[in-house]
Amino acid sequence: MRIGKHEVTYPLIQGGMAVRISGARLAGNVALCGGVGLVATAGIALNSPLYTGDNFFSAEPQALKAELAKAYKIAPNGVIGTNCMVAVTDYADLVKASCEGGAKLIVSGAGLPLNLPELTADWPDVALVPIVSSVKAAELIARKWQKTYDRLPDAVVVEDPDTAGGHLGEKFEKIGVGQYDQYATVRGVKNYFRTTWDLDIPIIAAGGIWDRADLQHALQQGADGVQMGTRFVCTEECDAADAFKQAYLNCTKEDIGLIMSPAGLPGRALVANVEAIRDRDLEMTPFCPTGCLRKCTYKTDGERFCIVHALDRAQRGDTETGLVFCGSNAWRATRIETVAGIFEELFHGEIPLSVNG
Ligand SMILES: Cc1cc2nc3c(=O)[nH]c(=O)nc-3n(C[C@H](O)[C@H](O)[C@H](O)COP(=O)(O)O)c2cc1C
Repeated sequence: MRIGKHEVTYPLIQGGMAVRISGARLAGNVALCGGVGLVATAGIALNSPLYTGDNFFSAEPQALKAELAKAYKIAPNGVIGTNCMVAVTDYADLVKASCEGGAKLIVSGAGLPLNLPELTADWPDVALVPIVSSVKAAELIARKWQKTYDRLPDAVVVEDPDTAGGHLGEKFEKIGVGQYDQYATVRGVKNYFRTTWDLDIPIIAAGGIWDRADLQHALQQGADGVQMGTRFVCTEECDAADAFKQAYLNCTKEDIGLIMSPAGLPGRALVANVEAIRDRDLEMTPFCPTGCLRKCTYKTDGERFCIVHALDRAQRGDTETGLVFCGSNAWRATRIETVAGIFEELFHGEIPLSVNG
């Protein structure tokens, strides 16, 4: 699969997973195996020595560049990129730090990345990949980019709100009610770029893809590749604490549900402890120690909980008062595996052994 100027052996992107669920170790090892590895940028500094408690916005870009350098130590020739969320306050800084740190692509969602080409104008080789959940969103982005920046996306990720983990690009009440058709959207986006722009870019399906049968189904249904998140959590290389991975191993289908994030977007997560998360964060004074999100009901009204700290706690292993984001397939995890093992099962190819980062 080729995305812009960058080619990978296997048509697989490991989805960016904040906060530090996909850091250097996971992204580097996925890239080493021949896929695209993504470092998730949001909240990257919170566990870094660069963060002193009151310098969140200056520490984030520095921590991101350090993380990218670690990932490239694992896979010097790999295709490594970042995931940048439009909804975060320091989006522009994280996009620029991604380019400066050597990201080969930027995958960007949680809002429409309408000015992404402007932010990356000095790095034309960095491939730009928006995440959408509708043909309309892809059209909006393409029209704006072409008109304003004379640029079109290098690939598009189509994310299924009915199955994907983390923040979702659909209204709460429209998720899981049988209205959304993932592969009709994939084919619609493909067709739009072909017919309107005479452009054949990879359209990547994300959400609910777990094994080789799911991968083959996605490809048969018109996707050029897949983006997978949840399957990579229960790997030795995933950057989350063991307790986070254990929460996946312990969960059942019924434990997985939707929460309303203070960012104003629904999210898929393990939902049993939402009250405990809320109780924990209502003790925090002052509310909002970082200002990480542009729009946040916790920041303005003390509503719900602090998303970045709830995710940070979970990543460090506090699954009692931390928020464990997951896709609808998390219950399928039954053991800790390796990234190489997953690639072997999916592609039946020769895969290098993992590297400790
Ligand atoms: C723990 C977790 C954190 C995530 N964080 C992000 C994120 O920061 N940005 C983003 O665009 N997507 C995020 N996602 C979505 C994934 O990148 C991916 O697209 C999605 O989960 C794919 O579905 P799957 O998990 O069923 O494979 C997250 C998913 C999980 C499970």
